[in-house]
Amino acid sequence: MEYVNFGKSGLKVSKLCLGTWHLPPSPEKDEYGVYKVDEDSAKRIIKKAIDLGINFFDTANVYHGVMQGPDYLHVGNSERILGDAISGYDRESLVISTKVRGRMAPWANGEGLSRKHIMWQVKESLKRLKTNYIDIYFMHRPDPSTPIEETMETFYDLVRQGLVLYVGESYFDPNDISYIVMLSRELRIPFIAMQEPYNLLERDIEKDKIPVARKYGLGIMAYIPLAQGVLTGKYVDYENKNWKVEEMSRASYVQEISNRYFTNENLQVLLSLSEIAKSKGITLAQLSLAWIFKKAEMEDVTIIPIIGATRETHLEEAVEALKINLDDDTFKKVDEITRKAKVNWEVKYDRISRRPW
Ligand SMILES: NC(=O)c1ccc[n+]([C@@H]2O[C@H](COP(=O)([O-])OP(=O)(O)OC[C@H]3O[C@@H](n4cnc5c(N)ncnc54)[C@H](OP(=O)(O)O)[C@@H]3O)[C@@H](O)[C@H]2O)c1
Repeated sequence: MEYVNFGKSGLKVSKLCLGTWHLPPSPEKDEYGVYKVDEDSAKRIIKKAIDLGINFFDTANVYHGVMQGPDYLHVGNSERILGDAISGYDRESLVISTKVRGRMAPWANGEGLSRKHIMWQVKESLKRLKTNYIDIYFMHRPDPSTPIEETMETFYDLVRQGLVLYVGESYFDPNDISYIVMLSRELRIPFIAMQEPYNLLERDIEKDKIPVARKYGLGIMAYIPLAQGVLTGKYVDYENKNWKVEEMSRASYVQEISNRYFTNENLQVLLSLSEIAKSKGITLAQLSLAWIFKKAEMEDVTIIPIIGATRETHLEEAVEALKINLDDDTFKKVDEITRKAKVNWEVKYDRISRRPW
């Protein structure tokens, strides 16, 4: 495994991060009718990641492990499972990021980026993760009801108390990110990270967020780098040139995946990319990750894909992609093909602030 500096910070991270938004589902459901996490498999996958040299793990206080947009009855599960899985390892060998903002309780201060909510949730996340500090603490989404100055001053205190080492944002407007950088410089807060959706079908951040990251020396953690599994080709029926959904795959229990990604344009893109991958003797997932690695190099920005895995083989496949060096011709071809991708943007994952509580 190769380790790189995260942006212009001194923090060294593996070139792949493992996410815990979705963990392997168990066929059993809980009393609310929600699939449980297959905890043994989840822990095996986390252990495998460490064996493969991955030192970087991402979670969030709201993550459940099998639900797309969890309610407060299911939040905290992923942090707890990650905490259990890493408890036998030297904490100093790992880099753990988690997030705050989503709804954790039904009461008025049960969500957001206020001092009250953050001070509560940081303690809860530390308990669930069974650790005494968080490496990178993310604002999961903007909170328009709280002045950003209040949020940043709270992070200042957490950093001074040693509970948080670095701070990041996720899915903020580029102008707001610039303002946060200014505030952090004034307040001396180690704000180093962005977390944004980035994959061959969703390349929006190239327009405005990658330039912001470069300008301020921020590192980017690229989430959904395989478009939630769509870029593995698992949802393509190659014979009939159509979409298909395998049992127990994420799309079988998350409706947004087909609504968002299963367009005619994306089908054509995936068929063309599969041909390229085949001609190179690599998988579509590997082509997708290798392209991001090369793009990051060309842009001179740290981009660490946060991969999801429900099997150990998913991890092995992703780690193998680190060895692939795409030639310029292939890079360009993929670039051109994926400009034709079409994702239904109106289908959002962001249900954090839109849940009907
Ligand atoms: N900041 C934010 O707001 C935000 C939002 C979303 C995600 N994230 C972070 O990003 C992480 C990654 O997101 P993601 O899980 O959607 O990433 P992803 O890598 O795009 O998708 C991972 C999923 O694809 C399938 N898969 C992966 N490799 C495969 C292979 N080789 N063959 C077949 N299927 C394969 C698996 O799903 P199945 O086997 O279940 O089908 C796996 O869980 C999350 O865990 C979270 O930490 C952050």
